[in-house]
Formats: sequence, structure tokens, C-alpha cells
Amino acid sequence: MAKIKPSKGAPYARILGVGGYRPARVVPNEVILERIDSSDEWIRSRSGIETRHWAGPEETVAAMAIEASGKAIADAGIDAGQIGAVVVSTVSHFSQTPAVATEIADKLGTGKAAAFDISAGCAGFGYGLTLAKGMVVEGSAEHVLVIGVERLSDLTDLEDRATAFLFGDGAGAVVVGPSDEPAIGPTVWGSEGDKSATIKQTVPWDRFALGDVSQLPLDSQGNIKFPAITQEGQAVFRWAVFEMAKVAQQALDAAGITADDLDVFIPHQANVRIIDSMVKTLKLPEHVTVARDIRTTGNTSAASIPLAMERLLATGEAKSGDTALVIGFGAGLVYAATVVTLP
Ligand SMILES: CC(C)(COP(=O)(O)OP(=O)(O)OC[C@H]1O[C@@H](n2cnc3c(N)ncnc32)[C@H](O)[C@@H]1OP(=O)(O)O)[C@@H](O)C(=O)NCCC(=O)NCCS
Repeated sequence: MAKIKPSKGAPYARILGVGGYRPARVVPNEVILERIDSSDEWIRSRSGIETRHWAGPEETVAAMAIEASGKAIADAGIDAGQIGAVVVSTVSHFSQTPAVATEIADKLGTGKAAAFDISAGCAGFGYGLTLAKGMVVEGSAEHVLVIGVERLSDLTDLEDRATAFLFGDGAGAVVVGPSDEPAIGPTVWGSEGDKSATIKQTVPWDRFALGDVSQLPLDSQGNIKFPAITQEGQAVFRWAVFEMAKVAQQALDAAGITADDLDVFIPHQANVRIIDSMVKTLKLPEHVTVARDIRTTGNTSAASIPLAMERLLATGEAKSGDTALVIGFGAGLVYAATVVTLP
């Protein structure tokens, strides 16, 4: 048997830079109320959302990702040519092949960086971060660009009062690179496919493409509805509140720290009541800064954690070197939680 050389990477990995892109159009709850029977007060009190951003025609998945990535690369203080791999997490890029990551890598000028997409719903950022850490430590890439990007407005049924107000569009990106000390903790992640029906697409693309009016959901005008994300809100809510607080605690334990050691908590931005409940269950002390970006961003799935991280750093609510717990959870159901040092 031939002896194979071991691969050689950095001793540890860290997030070196972060960037975000929020579409120009800000959509207040009043716009949502044009199509559903609800109220601004109900949406604010039940979800925490006041406004969200919706992408225009030019703000494609690739375009938003490139904007966010450019900022992350600049923030990391490297050149695009130093990126060895581009990982894009999205569920709202409508062209299945090729991966949008290759177009993004090319337009950023990464040279021949490895590039691929992953589908892990609202846990997508944590999944990408975990892959990136592995690549840096294993040595297959010195720097990895991890992007979470969504145009969920394309997959929102504006007549569905359970979801019409929830989703937003945007992109967040981080550069992961070498570190002399641990700065991305062990990931606690997993999937619960037995609950896959609780968040899903209303109709698969092939059935939608057949255009059979008798088999497909119709809107109030009698037109076939475009596929959208549907969810069993209460079931997902309960799962998030009870199970995800446990996963968050496991990530703290795995990193060898307690809630007292934390500076920042950046949970997936799905519902402000889920966030508040996790803060309580985890007994986070007063000094911990909690991301509540959902108020003005809505739920942007894979983009929500890096967008919230970027905003906390930009506003000075968090600072470089802070210890943050990040946790994503959503369609699958899937989840991923990790303790990181902020860039
Ligand atoms: C969607 C969500 C905000 C709904 O909040 P909720 O408190 O669970 O609401 P419910 O579905 O229990 O409905 C409560 C009441 O409000 C009503 N309601 C539902 N949607 C409404 C709306 N948009 N406006 C006004 N009332 C509404 C219901 O009809 C119900 O009325 P009833 O008590 O008279 O029967 C909440 O379930 C949620 O955030 N779920 C998790 C979302 C999530 O994490 N998704 C993950 C994706 S990654």
C-alpha cells in the first residue's frame, strides 16, 4: 500500500471578516396587510417584524451575494484571489444547475476557487461555517468564503396569513481563514427529517410545471399559485423554543464555556418571541448583546445570522474579539450551533 502524504492546514480557523447586503426596497407591514386579514400590531407582537427588505429585479441571488462578499473580503483584509473555496447556502436560487457559487466565485475574481451550493434552510450558515472550518484546518483552502443568500419574497404566498409577513431578502457573507488559536468552536448540528413536512415548498417544481389547474393551489383570482414556503407555525415555534435552547446549551458546553462567558448571542432571526424565550431558557446574563435584527430584516433564512452579525459590529453593539453563540434552525428540520470569536 502506497503511503499517502497527510494534508496540512492551519492549526485552527477563525472568521476574518463579515459583510452584508440588504435590498434597497424597505417593505413595511402596511404593504403585507393589503393581501391578508391582519394588523400591524398583530405582526409586531407575534413575530417582532416591523419592516423587511424585498429584492428588485437587479438584486438577484448572485448580485446580492457578490455585494455582501466584496464587503466581507475587504473586512478580512485579503484579496479575492486568496479565496480557495466558495460555499453558498441558499434555497431560493431558481436555476438548479450549475451552482450559483461558481458564478459568484468568478465575478468576485477568486480565480479557480472550488465553488458549490448547499441546501440547509435556516441552518445553512452554520453548515457552511462548519465546512469552511474543516477546509481551513484540513488544508484544502487557506481562505473560505461562506455566503448565506435568499430571495424569499419569490417564495412567499402573499395571501397566506401564516407566512406572508415573515420572510425577507438579503445576503450575508464571512471569510474563514487560518488562526493560531481556536476561534470557531465545535458545531452541534443535526437533522430531524421526521418533521420535514412542518416547513416545505407548497408544490414541487415538476408538479407546478405540469400546470394542471385541478391539481394545483389557486389564488383568489383563480390563477395557479407560484410555489411558496409553507409551515406549521405553532409546531415549528414549539420545536424551536424547546429543542433549540438545548442545542444552544450543548454548543456552549462543547466550547467549554458558560453563558457568563458570552458577549453576544446571534440566533437565527425567525421570531422575536423565539429569541426572547431562548435568552430566558439559557439564562443569558444582562451583559450579553442579543441580535434582534428580525425587526427590520424579517426572516432571511441562511442570510439571517451573518446579516445580524454584520449589523451588530457596524453599530458597535458588538466588537471584534467578542465571543458569540450562533444558532440556526429551520427547514429539514435542521440545526447548527457554534461558539465563535467575532471578526
Ligand atoms: C407564524 C407565527 C408568527 C404565528 O404566531 P402564532 O402565535 O403561532 O399564531 P397561531 O398560528 O397560533 O395563531 C394564533 C391566532 O392568530 C390568528 N392569526 C394567524 N395569523 C394571523 C395573522 N397574520 N394576523 C392576524 N391573526 C393571525 C390565528 O387565526 C389564531 O387565531 P385564533 O386564536 O382565533 O384561532 C409563529 O407560529 C412562528 O413564528 N412560528 C415559527 C416560525 C419559524 O420559526 N419559522 C422557521 C422558519 S426557519
